[in-house]
Amino acid sequence: MSSSEDQINQRVPQHVAIIMDGNGRWAKAQGLSRLEGHKQGAKRLRDVIRWARDAGIKQVSLYAFSTENWKRPKLEVAGLMTLMATMLPLEVPKMMEEGARLLTLGDTSKLPWLARKALQRAVKATQGNTSVDVILCLNYGGHQEIVEGIKTFCTTFSNEEEKQKALANLTDESFYVFLGRKDVLPVDLLIRTGGEKRISNFHLWDAAYAELYFSDTNWPAYTENDLKEALADFASRERRFGKTSEQIQGVTNE
Ligand code: IPE
Ligand code: IPE
Ligand code: MG
Repeated sequence: MSSSEDQINQRVPQHVAIIMDGNGRWAKAQGLSRLEGHKQGAKRLRDVIRWARDAGIKQVSLYAFSTENWKRPKLEVAGLMTLMATMLPLEVPKMMEEGARLLTLGDTSKLPWLARKALQRAVKATQGNTSVDVILCLNYGGHQEIVEGIKTFCTTFSNEEEKQKALANLTDESFYVFLGRKDVLPVDLLIRTGGEKRISNFHLWDAAYAELYFSDTNWPAYTENDLKEALADFASRERRFGKTSEQIQGVTNE
């Protein structure tokens, strides 16, 4: 790859994380039930996988259910779980066609059996695909993930001396291993739809240096053009990772 191509490619985020928000407000505006909003929102999933792949994005993570969403009315939670169990199997042939590999983040062991089964099947069926990774975040919470990482660290070492040594040498890179998932890249671009400007416990670890983008479009109405606008905005930003602009632009030798 030539250096100019290399530069262009760096302007495409490798990992895009999306907080798919606004299903309820979209439904209300149409005089529909919240569940109908979730149904229409779930339909956008297959679109976004294709758009992401076509844009050259390697990973797209989708916030589908947070650790806080259990606090919603029981009927809505049950409806969301049923939706996943029924819609996911229908998405598998499409994911095979797109070359999409399904991964999950979050404690899926707490999901109802049918939803868990649908997820396991879809993960297994798509595991050999390589065009784009789709990371479905279910019963996911950034706090939960870090707390679980600490628990794993504390229970990994049987001998106290080993544990103290590991603790003394612990860095952000070595701690990452204890978060218990492989293959997840740092989030480059974090998009939230639906107009709210908060991250709601999403990707607290991986999005440490993500560029943030807030779209007013409610998730069920999200289009490829909305994604393209976010990607164009991302491409115009200077990511400094703590350095100065002069260092990034190479106008200083230091
Ligand atoms: C996001 O849409 C979907 C989930 C959280 C499952 P919402 O249901 O939060 O929609 P609003 O924010 O009420 O409009
Ligand atoms: C975040 O949306 C979670 C998902 C999109 C799954 P919420 O609508 O639950 O977020 P808050 O609680 O309003 O911040
Ligand atoms: Mg919401």
